[in-house]
Amino acid sequence: MPASSPRTASYEAAPNIALVKYWGVRDESLALPYNSSISVTLDRLRTRTTVSFDPSLAEDTFRLNGRPAPPKALASVSELLDRVRAAAGTPDRASVDSTNNFPTASGLASSASGFAALAGASTAAAGLAWSPRKVSQLARFGSGSACRSVFGGFVEWRAGTRADGRDCYARPLFGEGHWPALRDLVLLLDDAPEKEVRSAVAMQSTVATSPEYSRRQQELPDRIRRIRRAIATRDAARLFPLIMEECDSFRAVCETTRPPLDYLTSTSRTLLAEVRALNEEAGRPVAGYTHDAGAHLHVFVLDRDAAAVRRRLGKVPKVRQTLLLRPGPGGRRTTGGAR
Ligand code: PMV
Repeated sequence: MPASSPRTASYEAAPNIALVKYWGVRDESLALPYNSSISVTLDRLRTRTTVSFDPSLAEDTFRLNGRPAPPKALASVSELLDRVRAAAGTPDRASVDSTNNFPTASGLASSASGFAALAGASTAAAGLAWSPRKVSQLARFGSGSACRSVFGGFVEWRAGTRADGRDCYARPLFGEGHWPALRDLVLLLDDAPEKEVRSAVAMQSTVATSPEYSRRQQELPDRIRRIRRAIATRDAARLFPLIMEECDSFRAVCETTRPPLDYLTSTSRTLLAEVRALNEEAGRPVAGYTHDAGAHLHVFVLDRDAAAVRRRLGKVPKVRQTLLLRPGPGGRRTTGGAR
């Protein structure tokens, strides 16, 4: 292909939900987190992105769901593309076209799937034959959690300890078929507000001001070991209480940040209480909740309990929609965008 033609590639990736939260950056220039995190990549939800490096373009362009994206979103896309241009040795600007098959502002982590898809599509379009690990290491510069969306199933992002970041990377722990009975019941709420502070900024404010942060960091290695083991042995009775403990710890450092970071609404709090009540009434951990930096909830359940839990939680006023998802596949190159 002549060097003057556009070079195009497409890639699709899914959001993920963290069972152990990434919250705090130890090196901003290398995007290195303080602690390791573990997530589940979700099925059915997808961001599909096509990137074309085109010598005839004067500027990068970014269309999101068929419309020109806001300037801030374009700026963060261009920042990631600059890294790709530097690695590939090309000055060419790019057009980026990205579509989510779920509402972008729904509170589902579209930045994770979005930056994973952008990293996959842009490196391929630039002719870089990068491994998934390298694509993932690039994706985290857009949004930390995006590095986990390159992989499917259960994924660990290892924080590493080296100053140069070479031992900081995401890797698949168990594939999407590892635990066929596990479900993530996503509860989308009517009263969820728009995010006020970007997570990358909010977490650094937690590191600087929360008196609970260092205790959380001390507790995490052991909690991560226990969560990894509960997933390995498909032990829901152990996993569900552990992810709630982790979510409560994440919420505690947010709420003790100055000024406080309060991501939940009264509906989210009602739902947390409902899940606790459900487990108490059943005399066993039927469900385990978690949430990100937002008001919507993810409630993990086993297949056999999913319908009953969904009925009960779906009745709580202001629950707009419930989705029953499974662990899903990782990011992949698609062919549709090639010209
Ligand atoms: O990836 P970011 O920078 O949007 O931060 C994500 C932070 C959490 O979603 C709260 C936790 C996580 O590990 O996904």
